[in-house]
Amino acid sequence: MSEEKIIRMDMGTLHGDEHHGKEHSILCLGIESSCDETSAAIVDSDRNILSHIIYSQIPEHQKYGGVVPELAARAHILAIDDVIRKTLDAAGKKIEDIDVIAATAGPGLIGGVLIGWMAATGIAQSTGKPLVAVNHLEGHALVPRLHAAAANGSDGATSVEFPYLLMLASGGHCQILLVRGVGQYEMIGQTLDDSAGEAFDKVAKMLGLGYPGGPVVDKRAAQGNPKAFNFPRPLCDKPGCDFSFSGIKTAARTFLSRVEEPYSDEFINDFCASFQAAVVDCIIDRLQNAFKDERVIDAAPKTLVVAGGVAKNSAIRAAMDKLATKQDVVFAAPPMNLCTDNGAMIAWAGLENYRLGKVVKEPVAPRPRWPLTEL
Ligand code: KG4
Ligand code: ZN
Repeated sequence: MSEEKIIRMDMGTLHGDEHHGKEHSILCLGIESSCDETSAAIVDSDRNILSHIIYSQIPEHQKYGGVVPELAARAHILAIDDVIRKTLDAAGKKIEDIDVIAATAGPGLIGGVLIGWMAATGIAQSTGKPLVAVNHLEGHALVPRLHAAAANGSDGATSVEFPYLLMLASGGHCQILLVRGVGQYEMIGQTLDDSAGEAFDKVAKMLGLGYPGGPVVDKRAAQGNPKAFNFPRPLCDKPGCDFSFSGIKTAARTFLSRVEEPYSDEFINDFCASFQAAVVDCIIDRLQNAFKDERVIDAAPKTLVVAGGVAKNSAIRAAMDKLATKQDVVFAAPPMNLCTDNGAMIAWAGLENYRLGKVVKEPVAPRPRWPLTEL
C-alpha cells in the first residue's frame, strides 16, 4: 500500500492533549472494513480520537463506476495489518495499552466485513482483551455522541444526548430512527427501494461524473438552478415516513434520454441542483411527518441528527438545520470526516457497548444483513 493512499486524520488536535494523564479513560481500537474503506482508530472514553487512519479504496473502484466486492475484499486483506499498525503508532500506543477491541461485524459486503472482524478476533484472542461486535449502522448512529459539528460542517466539540431523531442516510441505507439509547432503535421510516446515496451515485453515473456521486453532485448543484428540471417528489404529501428514490432516478434517465451528449457544464449544474432539491424535499417532508409520529411525540427528542455518508451533503444539512429550528429542537451532525465510513465511529460504538457490558462471549458470525432493530 502506498503512503499517499492513506489519508491521515490525526484528530488529537481536536481536543488538544487532554487525554494525557487521565487514568480512568478507556481506550478502544476500532476497525472498519464493510465497504471500500479500510480504517482503524483509537478513541478514548473522554471522547478523544487519539489516532485515525482511513485507507480509501475509491481509486481502485472508480474505473468500474462502483464498488466491486471481490476487489474490495482483496484490498482489505492487503491493507488491514498496515492500517492497524499505523493507527497504534500514530497514537504512540502498543496493543497492550488498549482496553477494548471493536470491529464492524455487519451489515456490509461480507468479504470485507470478514477481514476486519477476523483481524479483531485474532487480536482479542491473542491478547485476552474484550471484543465488541459493532453494527456498522450503529457506528453511524452513535458517532454524533463522540463529536457533533455545526450545520456547515465546522467543528464543534459537543455531544448529543438520548433520545434523538436520526436521519441515517448512507450508500446502502436510508432510515429515520428514534434513537432511545445504545442498542435501542425504533424504525420510524425507511426506503422502499433505493437509498439516498444510491440515487446520488446513479445520477452521477448517468451524467458521467464518476464514483462516488454524492460529493460531485453536491458541488455541481451549488452552481446550478434547482428549478431548472421538475423532478418528482415520490411519497411526499402522503402520510408516513417511508422514502422512495427509484422514481427520481427513472425521471433522471428519462430527462437525459432526450438530451444530446456531451452535456454542457451549465446543464449538468442545473440537473444536479434540481435532482438534489427533490431529494432534500423528500427528506424534509418525511422528517416533518416523523415529528408527528406518536412514538416521537412521546419520546420528545431534543435533537435532530443526520448521519451516514449523505450527511456530508450541504443542502441536506442546511435544510435539516432549518427544520430543526421550526420544530424547536437542536440540529446536530458529525463533522464531515466522521460522516462517511471510518474507524472512529466503530471505536466509539464499541466503547458505548463495552460500557454496557455488551462484549462477545461466544464466536460471532459476521452478518451481511443486520438491521439496527435486531441488536
Ligand atoms: O456511509 P457511507 O460512507 O457508506 C455506506 O455505509 O454506504 O456512505 C457513502 C455514500 C455514497 O453513496 C456517497 O455518494 C454519499 O455517501 N455521499 C454523499 C456526499 N458525500 C458522500 N451524498 C450526497 N452529498 C455528499 N456530499
Ligand atoms: Zn457506512
